[in-house]
Amino acid sequence: MEARYLLRVLIFFLSVAVVLFFFVVHLPYAPTNTSELLDCATNSPWCTSKNRLQSKQTNILKEPPKPTRHRNHKSDTPHHPLDPLTIQELNKVRSILSSHELFQLSAYALHSVELEEPEKPLVLKWKKGDRLLPRRASVIARVNGRTHVLTVDLGTGQVTVHETGLHYGYPMMTIEDMTTATLAPLANADFNRTIIQRGIDLADLACLPISTGWYGKAEENRRLIKVQCYSMEGTANFYMRPIEGLTVLLDLDTKRVVEISDKGRDIPIPKAANTDYRYSVQEFNQVMNILNPISIEQPKGPSFTIEDQHLVKWANWEFHLKPDARAGVVISRAKVRDPDTGEQRDVMYKGFTSELFVPYMDPTDAWYFKTYMDAGEYGFGLQAMALDPLNDCPRNAYYMDGVFAAADGTPYVRSNMICVFESYGGDIGWRHSESPITGMDIREARPKVTLVIRMAASVANYDYIVDWEFQTDGLIRIKVGLSGILMVKGTPYDNTDQIPNQEDLHGTLLSENVIGVIHDHYVTFYLDMDIDGSDNSFVDVNIKRQLTSPGESPRRSYLKAVRNVAKTEKDAQIKLKLYDPSEFHVINPSKKTRVGNPVGYKVVPGGTAASLLDHEDPPQKRGAFTNNQIWVTPYNQNEQWAGGLFAYQSQGEDTLATWSERDRPIENKDIVLWYTLGFHHIPCQEDFPIMPTVSSSFDLKPVNFFESNPILRIPPNVEKDLPVCKSAASV
Ligand SMILES: *[C@@H]1O[C@H](CO)[C@@H](O)[C@H](O)[C@H]1NC(C)=O
Repeated sequence: MEARYLLRVLIFFLSVAVVLFFFVVHLPYAPTNTSELLDCATNSPWCTSKNRLQSKQTNILKEPPKPTRHRNHKSDTPHHPLDPLTIQELNKVRSILSSHELFQLSAYALHSVELEEPEKPLVLKWKKGDRLLPRRASVIARVNGRTHVLTVDLGTGQVTVHETGLHYGYPMMTIEDMTTATLAPLANADFNRTIIQRGIDLADLACLPISTGWYGKAEENRRLIKVQCYSMEGTANFYMRPIEGLTVLLDLDTKRVVEISDKGRDIPIPKAANTDYRYSVQEFNQVMNILNPISIEQPKGPSFTIEDQHLVKWANWEFHLKPDARAGVVISRAKVRDPDTGEQRDVMYKGFTSELFVPYMDPTDAWYFKTYMDAGEYGFGLQAMALDPLNDCPRNAYYMDGVFAAADGTPYVRSNMICVFESYGGDIGWRHSESPITGMDIREARPKVTLVIRMAASVANYDYIVDWEFQTDGLIRIKVGLSGILMVKGTPYDNTDQIPNQEDLHGTLLSENVIGVIHDHYVTFYLDMDIDGSDNSFVDVNIKRQLTSPGESPRRSYLKAVRNVAKTEKDAQIKLKLYDPSEFHVINPSKKTRVGNPVGYKVVPGGTAASLLDHEDPPQKRGAFTNNQIWVTPYNQNEQWAGGLFAYQSQGEDTLATWSERDRPIENKDIVLWYTLGFHHIPCQEDFPIMPTVSSSFDLKPVNFFESNPILRIPPNVEKDLPVCKSAASV
């Protein structure tokens, strides 16, 4: 009797807890403006927070789900011609398509449902208060093994079919493609048998969908994927426990197993110990000092606003920001205010991550095909998971959600996909002090505060952090951080002294039976620069050594800047050279400064690793957009994806490289600049079991764009304006 009563009380309390938990997780959070989210008082709880170790949960394998803010997007309406499709619009697309004859036939899948952006001249003319331009959706669908490109007019309900399968590659995979592919091998008895024979419980299996690339006949006329699996036993980091040499080739349309390659039976599964990266399972280590809490306080709230959900205004900047399933983050209509005239001046019409190319450097059976194109194959935006507040982005961040369509057209919300925050890392905007020798006591310095737009995509194991950082001096820094988990290879070796020739390892031995395989990352950005208008030119400002004539000067040599205006696309195919350097300017030849210089912006390279693969190597043909670090093409609405619209199993017939070979005129035209950030990665032991972030960036920097230093008049910091939050050490 007693025991039953106790049980009842227990069940009652449990149900209360479950209901409460449900409310905490699902309570709708609908802020009316950004400042509501970002206001923070000066008596911040951080000031009194206890040692964070106390809140650490130990030895819990399953983490409680992190609460995410859920905003209701059901009533969202578009305000700007570039606003992404809303939930209502996506539902309308779905219902229009469902009554179209093409979709009556049989099963179909929508691989992409995006806003079809109105033509550029119309968007340029559009002003707030004008009637919204006609809304159209661009849809890529697969029906009966064929790809269709359609336009759905949301006003008239009309559907235009543009193209039906007359190309080599395939559209980006759907999330449904990826999830069904990872489960499909289990339908095959041979697969189950080999897993069991290797001593792995089928319940511990974690499998990954790996794009096959294209190598010739075998990859033609059918949509394929390769699946490789790992053991989850004893760790959340299954990536460190590869079932090496086992590759299942699947037909992505039928989900049937085409072939199983089972080669690594003698290679042990690496151990699970010390692979988990979750805080909750770490052992406390006395050796490490824990830092005191740190955060930025903004007692008066943020200095930016987001109008109509997508128009960001901060300091002298204004731009349109939206999430995109393929590109991740899209920045449009970026304008900066001139400090002298107050005029909003055009800088960039559109900028985004166009494609990624990640070739691994191991030519063996289970590895040669790993040459990912993360945007065109996987959807860089689709892989951008919810950001973790306080850790992915600082406390003063505002979060923006993505709204995408599933394969059947149903809209869904990706919460907290992008964050926007002001950043102050203690850097200096500009400074000067006078030494006593001049007799002047001058110390002038200005703090550098920037605005960051961030997303982080987890393309299976790897994490890419993409930041667009805007500075008040007009500079835009585009930064890519690499973190996440290496794709590793199993090996019988557990020490380098057993390896006859380390160069043949294709990587580094990171732990017992684990090789981190050498690979590259290329991230190619589309940058439609419009410097004070659309007609611009690209200028290679070459820095040349000039020798003096005998007797002319005590100097033998000096440097000259020689300007070469690119006439056609081939003049702007740039390979960076350390000993023959240049600056790369995009100028408006018809707009000059007071003293006569053409106004411009320059691209300042960084992350300059170049692909060394043979140009005839199939992956490099597909990734030929990485053959140069810089390209310039004339604006063409159909040329936005550097690896082609249909990058999946493409053969390299429709890339930035093939467009540029047409050598079209680019002088004083609407031009698009392309820049590729490159990384070579030879893994090292610190990358195990998860990689500390490595990042590189490039800049878009004003060059004779302003008449003088645009931040001359910004005020310095003074103590009385700053939040009071003293650390224990200073009281
Ligand atoms: C393979 O194993 C899975 C998991 O135990 C099971 O669901 C599936 O039916 C098996 N497949 C075959 C063909 O036996």
